[in-house]
Amino acid sequence: MTTVTVKASQTYEVKIGHRLLDTLGQEAAALLKGRQAAIVSDSNVAPLYLDRVRASLEGAGFQVCSFVFPAGEEHKNGQTYLDLLEFLAQRHITRADALVALGGGVVGDLTGFAAATFLRGIAFVQLPTTLLAAVDASVGGKTAIDLKNGKNLAGAFYQPKAVLCDLDTLATLPQAVFADGCAEVIKYGMIGDPGLLEQLETTDFQADPEAIVARCIAQKRDLVEQDEFDTGARQLLNLGHTVGHGIEACSSYQLSHGKAVAIGMILVTRAAVALGKCPAEVLPRLQGLVRKYGLPEATEYPARDLYEKTLSDKKRAGNTISLVVPTAWGKSQLTPIPVAELLDWIEKGLSL
Ligand code: GLY
Repeated sequence: MTTVTVKASQTYEVKIGHRLLDTLGQEAAALLKGRQAAIVSDSNVAPLYLDRVRASLEGAGFQVCSFVFPAGEEHKNGQTYLDLLEFLAQRHITRADALVALGGGVVGDLTGFAAATFLRGIAFVQLPTTLLAAVDASVGGKTAIDLKNGKNLAGAFYQPKAVLCDLDTLATLPQAVFADGCAEVIKYGMIGDPGLLEQLETTDFQADPEAIVARCIAQKRDLVEQDEFDTGARQLLNLGHTVGHGIEACSSYQLSHGKAVAIGMILVTRAAVALGKCPAEVLPRLQGLVRKYGLPEATEYPARDLYEKTLSDKKRAGNTISLVVPTAWGKSQLTPIPVAELLDWIEKGLSL
């Protein structure tokens, strides 16, 4: 097992290893004052792991209740959030008790936001069960729900008490869901870890998942510790996400986040090469990795549509948008550009 300690407004450990779902009870008993836990999960994950997580908590003396909602991003909304808060109130969950998020990013984001706001804040523990949630969403304290006008528009920075990343849950993921997480793993390499890129090129993720996940989380830890509230260095994590968000929005969120991020990374890299900001050899290497991990590299949406949708993203500040631009293999730089230049970047990123 590997442990990464995150020192943010709350200090907590991220544990990465095998059979960690079964150790939750003892971990939680050591961290929490109360002995009630509410497990929050979705209809895909609950049938697989809820009983095990419940048994682990009960074995450590917790009284356990569970809230299971239908799987899917469309349920990360205000209604599910309010239903969850009412459920917690009915069950007399107190400030000494805790929520347990068992699932992928949707479950973690919703549970974290409920934990941030129920009784003005109660503890929560993240049990990510997708690669994407393990390497990104479960660490760093970004919690949110979607509004009708866009994704993650209501949320809070609120750190978990602990994150237990049980690698066994990643072994059974459908290929497309696993690939989504690989896009984020490649992103970590591109923003600051050429050694990780080499590992991804020369071996397979499955050769050493613990080392790869730990490497990603350590890099996220470094950025979160420097900039917990996302006003500077942490924005490097948005490589591929700015235009990726526009691609997701153009598809009415039918294209998954990881696939949109993969296309977004290729697009910004191609534009950076065309503008002389990145050596040409970076693009084919990145394309090779994206293909190797089963991700798409291109989009059919026209530049103008991508531009409009990208502008509605919350990464924009006034007339400036911060693009994360690859400047070498395994190195990227936060680059504020005037909004007026974004269309040119997108056109250069699309042209073959
Ligand atoms: N998902 C990017 C961040 O946590 O900042």
